[in-house]
Amino acid sequence: MDITGRVALVTGASVGSGRAIAQRLLDAGADVVAADIGPDPGLGRFVALDVTHDAALIVAMDELRPTILVNNAGGGGHLPPHFPEATVDAWSAMLALNLRAPMLATQHMRSGVVINIASSAGVEDGPHPSPEYSAAKAGLIRFTTALRMPGVRVNCVVPGWLLTDRAREELAAMTPEERAAAPEPIPLERLTEAVVALIVDDARSGAVFELL
Ligand SMILES: NC(=O)c1ccc[n+]([C@@H]2O[C@H](COP(=O)([O-])OP(=O)(O)OC[C@H]3O[C@@H](n4cnc5c(N)ncnc54)[C@H](O)[C@@H]3O)[C@@H](O)[C@H]2O)c1
Repeated sequence: MDITGRVALVTGASVGSGRAIAQRLLDAGADVVAADIGPDPGLGRFVALDVTHDAALIVAMDELRPTILVNNAGGGGHLPPHFPEATVDAWSAMLALNLRAPMLATQHMRSGVVINIASSAGVEDGPHPSPEYSAAKAGLIRFTTALRMPGVRVNCVVPGWLLTDRAREELAAMTPEERAAAPEPIPLERLTEAVVALIVDDARSGAVFELL
């Protein structure tokens, strides 16, 4: 697929990885629409959108008709309380943001390509501080591999810890010992190149690209 001129909707694009993906797609010539509950990042077009608000998400999909959709809005796995201390409403909200919203947006694609941004939390073995975040991302990965949708390719990137501004702040707050024990954060360029590779390759469908 040629990215030039395509309407590319990137959710959660105010900051962090979503902003970097939106910038990369803008550089590739896409008609980028950044969507977020946060501020306009000043890249292409912007829509104020809470992806967990079903009706608003459906309206956005139907009005914008993207042929590139990047389901990036997500996260929250670092914010306690976690399951089982979290209330049903709190862990349901985690599933809604990280799994249900990408599924609903995908359901309203007419043609083109979807990139789901999952997480290594969804593929690792063993304990994770937020089991509900891990479960949602595992679900998103399996949703990607299980789905076959006529006219729509759906792929997934599975990043480890990304070198966002937040990660830089976390690194700066660490002791030298904590820093030595922490994994090496992944530059955002590696994520954005993976996203582009999965968009342009028409043979890629149901693919999982791990960035660890
Ligand atoms: N940062 C990491 O190290 C890392 C690692 C693996 C996976 N991920 C995944 O990458 C994606 C982005 O992560 P990030 O660290 O850049 O996150 P972030 O928290 O820095 O940014 C998330 C963006 O999504 C927006 N957002 C949150 N809820 C929303 C909603 N309901 N509707 C619309 N927008 C909403 C936020 O306002 C924010 O702009 C997430 O799906 C996350 O799970 C991140």
